[in-house]
Formats: sequence, structure tokens, C-alpha cells
Amino acid sequence: MSSEFGQHIKVTVFGQSHSDAVGAVIDGLPAGETIDSQKVQEFMNRRAPGKSEYTTRRNEPDEPVVLSGLLDGVTCGAPLCAIIENKDVRSKDYDKIRNIPRPSHSDYPAYIKYKGFTDVRGGGHFSGRLTAPLCFAGAVCKQILERRGVFVGAHIASIGAAEDEPFGPAHISAEELAAVGKKEFPAVSESSAVLMKKEIAAAAEKKDSVGGIVECCAVGLPAGIGEPMFDGLENRLASAIFGIPAVKGVEFGSGFAAAKMRGSENNDPYYFEDGKVKTLTNNHGGIIGEISTGMPLILRAAFKPTPSIGIEQNSVDLAEKVNSTITITGRHDPCIVPRAVPVVEAVTAIVLLDLLTNGGN
Ligand SMILES: Cc1cc2nc3c(=O)[nH]c(=O)nc-3n(C[C@H](O)[C@H](O)[C@H](O)COP(=O)(O)O)c2cc1C
Repeated sequence: MSSEFGQHIKVTVFGQSHSDAVGAVIDGLPAGETIDSQKVQEFMNRRAPGKSEYTTRRNEPDEPVVLSGLLDGVTCGAPLCAIIENKDVRSKDYDKIRNIPRPSHSDYPAYIKYKGFTDVRGGGHFSGRLTAPLCFAGAVCKQILERRGVFVGAHIASIGAAEDEPFGPAHISAEELAAVGKKEFPAVSESSAVLMKKEIAAAAEKKDSVGGIVECCAVGLPAGIGEPMFDGLENRLASAIFGIPAVKGVEFGSGFAAAKMRGSENNDPYYFEDGKVKTLTNNHGGIIGEISTGMPLILRAAFKPTPSIGIEQNSVDLAEKVNSTITITGRHDPCIVPRAVPVVEAVTAIVLLDLLTNGGN
């Protein structure tokens, strides 16, 4: 399995949902960077399960144990490795469905690719649990980025039909990004949050699930970062964000809406402000020609509804080779999106730090 990404800063994610631990190795971090472990924990708590009525009941504290790479809390140049123990596992939930692939989960394609040897418990290596080490790596990269004046934040843009206010694409500030990140339910508008929670509750009541969109922004990114044509900002970010389980679409700036606009609506006119070139609008989302413009970077990631639902579904019995049905028990998020917000931030931060780091300090 290749669960690694990055060029100068390489992140490898390992473990399974029900193995002893999950973890990450971050190679290539600049040496001499102080990492505030309290801030890392606060960031990881935003993703940790069992924190609200809208997430899985699996109760994991998500406390990373750093094995290497830090000396007295400072990066020492060696690969930074951290593990997060899996404490609250209930593997028996999976005994009955071992040979019956869950529709829209990775069970069937993984069964074929790995010849039936995959660990299906809790989704194994395909589980949302693997986003805990991603958040660890992202929390570390975020701290280093902030020291370089780059701030990354995200919010729930929509759940089902309920939409949040979008980030002001041309004027969003680091303070606004930090403020939404502190919320237990990270939506900009409180009234939108109420509607989004109703969407989740309505799906959960029917033992169903619901999808949504995370909007992520980075401010302070200098102009000129990225390489045309295939190794630029959009390429690298999209590739990494598609690695987050359940992501089915990524768009930048006005994204798919641009296809319905005239050039006169979508173009962003330039102007000077305090000697810096800016754009009046930001439909380009901070990236043109795969290179950063210095305007806020705006991307959105679409998450599908959680595949594990409590409603009976058609499937197949791979051992008996007959049609079958499956009713999934166990603990699952009725909506992945609230916990995915820090994950999108984390992956964005890792990619941006990688692009800003040219193989050294
Ligand atoms: C934070 C997070 C939590 C998730 N929780 C669940 C879950 O409780 N149940 C589930 O079936 N899928 C969950 N998923 C999604 C599956 O891991 C994912 O749909 C599956 O691996 C198939 O991959 P794909 O959807 O990217 O094709 C979660 C994903 C994330 C990012």
C-alpha cells in the first residue's frame, strides 16, 4: 500500500482502525522548529470522535505519542514519528460482515486487490481513523507555516441542502479562520449551523447518512508558489485531498460555478494596495496557471454520505458466491463532514509547507 505523499516533506500514514495504533512519519521537516504539543492536541481534539451527538460514539482520546524527531519539543532533523493508540475497538461488530462487502465502502475492491487478506475491522487501513495521524502531521506543519506568516482554516460549507455563509474570498483574515476553528460545530453562521445539524439529525433518525462540503482557505501565501503544468498548487492539493477517505470532488475558487459564468464575471481585476498587487474579486481562488497569486487560496472538498448506514442494503456473500443483504451495526458518523474540517486543513497545511520547503531550512 502506498500511503505516503509529499516531495520535500514526506508524510507516511500507517495502521488500521483496529490495530494497536495508527501513526504518521513526517520526513524532511526543517530542524530547529519548536512544536507546541498543547496546540497539537487542541487541533487533534477537533477531529477526535465521541465529542458530540453528531459523530461516532467511538470514544478515543487521540493523544499522540511522539517516538522520534523531537528533542525537548524542537524538531531535530530526524523523521518525526508519532503513534495514536486505538483504545475503544469493538472488532466483533465486523465478524458477521467479513465476507459481505459494505456498499460504497472499500471492502470489495480491497478484497480483490489484497486477495482477501485485508483487515476489514472498522474499515482497516481505509478507515476515517487514519485521518487522526494526518491531523497530527497537519498540526505540526500548521505551526511551522504560521511562523512563516501562512494561516490555514476551514469551515463546513454545506451539509445536505443547508449552506453556511462562504468565506469572503478576497478579504478573509487569519483571525476569522482561527475563530471558526474554535467552534465545536465549525460553521461561520450560527443559523446555518442549526439547519445543518437538523440535516444530520434527520438522516440519523432514519438510520441514514448525509454528505456535504468543506471550504478551506490559506492566507499569507506569497505569490509565485507552484510549478506548471503538472506539479502546481492545484495538482498537489487535489491529489492529497483526494487521499482523504470519502472525498469525491475538489474545486478551487469559483470552481464548477465558473463554467456557467461569462469571462467578464469570472475575471478578477487587478489593483495596487500599499504597493502590493491584489485582485478586487477572487474567483481564481489564489491560483492562476498552477501558481499562487498572493490572494487567499480557496478550495472546497465534497464529502459523500457515510457509506455505513443502518438500513438494510443489497450486497453479495463473497464466500458463498450468492446475493445477500447487509445491515450494518457498529458505531458510525451519520455525517463525516464536521470531523473532516480539520482533516482538510491538515492536508492543505502539509502540501503548502512541502511546496514552501525546497529541501532544506
Ligand atoms: C473523519 C472521517 C470519518 C469517517 N467515518 C466513517 C464511518 O464512521 N463509517 C464509514 O462507513 N465511513 C467513514 N468514513 C469514510 C470511509 O473511510 C470511506 O468512505 C471509505 O474508506 C471508502 O473510501 P472513499 O469513500 O474515499 O471511496 C470516514 C471518513 C472520514 C474522513
